[in-house]
Parts: sequence; C-alpha cells; structure tokens
Amino acid sequence: MEFPFDINQIFTERISFLDQNLVADRWTARRPDLQANLATVIDELGRASAKAQQLTAAVTSASKLQSQRHQLYLLKDGECSGGRGAVVGFLKVGHKKLFLLDRHGVHVEAEPLCVLDFYIAENLQRHGYGLELFDFMLQHKNVEPGRMAYDRPSPKLLSFLEKHYSLTQNVPQVNNFVVFEDFFFNRAAAV
Ligand code: ACO
Repeated sequence: MEFPFDINQIFTERISFLDQNLVADRWTARRPDLQANLATVIDELGRASAKAQQLTAAVTSASKLQSQRHQLYLLKDGECSGGRGAVVGFLKVGHKKLFLLDRHGVHVEAEPLCVLDFYIAENLQRHGYGLELFDFMLQHKNVEPGRMAYDRPSPKLLSFLEKHYSLTQNVPQVNNFVVFEDFFFNRAAAV
C-alpha cells in the first residue's frame, strides 16, 4: 500500500511494533506530522482489512489502538515507491479473557494471546509476507501458534495456519474464537 508521504520516515525498521502509545520510535514521538501520518496508515490498513474480510466496520484504527491494550506489528517494504517505501501489511494481537470448551466440553477460563486482525495487501498475498510477520510476532512474544486463540478467523487465515503450523484440529466453541487441540495440552482446567 502506497501513501503520499515517506513511509521510511515513520517506520525505520522492516517490522515495527506499535502499542497504545502509537509511536514507531523516539523520532516519530517528537514529530506531530509523522504521528498524524502514522495514524493515517493504521486507519487505512484497518479499512482495507475490514473490506477484505467483508466486515461492516473496521476492527483496527489508530484511535482503537490507543484505547485498547492491543499490539500491532507492521511490515513495510522500504525499497519501493522511489525509495519512500510502502506498507505490506499488519498483524494485531492482544490478550482476551475467554471462556472456552476443551475437547470433553469442560469449561476452561483463560486469557490467551489472540490474533485479532491480520492483513497483507491484496497484490502481495501468498508471497510469504504473512509468514514473515507471524513468525516475527511468535518470536517476539515467545509463544507457540497452538497456544493462541483466533478471533473469527477467515478461511484464508485457517488455510495459513494449517499450511505453516499444521494447525488443523480446532475444538468447537460457542463464541467467535477458534482454538486448536494444542491449546489445552498441559493446561490446568480452571472452571
Ligand atoms: N486463498 C486461500 N488461502 C490463502 C490465500 C487465498 N487467497 N491467501 C493466503 N492463503 C493461505 C494459504 O494457506 C497460502 O498457502 P498456499 O498459497 O500454498 O495455498 C498461505 O496462506 C500463504 O502464506 P503467506 O504467503 O505467508 O500468507 P499471506 O502473506 O497471504 O498472508 C493472510 C495471509 C494475512 C491471511 C492474507 O492472505 C490476507 O490478508 N488475507 C485477507 C484478510 C484476511 O483474511 N485476514 C485474516 C482475518 S481473520 C483474523 O485476523 C483473526
């Protein structure tokens, strides 16, 4: 995704980590103009992701990121657009308190790290960028994909998880979250 401003000025790293402070680094924190552009990027990504998933409203925006305790990883390609760079996609995660059912139908209360939104620009999908972003997050959070929960995963995300992490056996839930069998291994059941 291209923008009418310099992406490399806002995001200095190939993958940036953003939380509720909404600063890519100390440099953007001191520049209100860069902060405004950063918010534009997040809003635009949120809209594109909602459109791709046929959602009526975006689940990701700059203001939502500021008010919720979620975290966002943003991947850029710093070399395109005449050196100004472009945004490839993003992955948003956060902890949620969930009431889940294990494979025996026993209630388990947990607060796992959840995948809340995930989007790679249409023309760049199926090129391995999603995997790059997801693997970065797994290392950064030191978490296994089977230990995470997935909020209303799209068919593309389910296929992605099966292909890259062999996650196939999901355990049916009564909410919108999907968890896999690995989630319940060695987990104390708190009813
Ligand atoms: N159809 C089916 N499977 C797909 C598609 C597609 N159009 N695109 C990606 N995948 C899956 C497949 O398993 C694919 O492997 P294959 O090409 O061998 O079939 C694999 O992902 C490719 O892996 P990557 O290239 O690393 O993934 P990509 O960069 O495409 O990122 C993502 C995956 C984020 C799901 C991307 O396809 C996307 O943005 N899709 C649209 C938005 C979306 O559905 N996001 C998930 C929302 S649900 C949530 O966030 C909780």
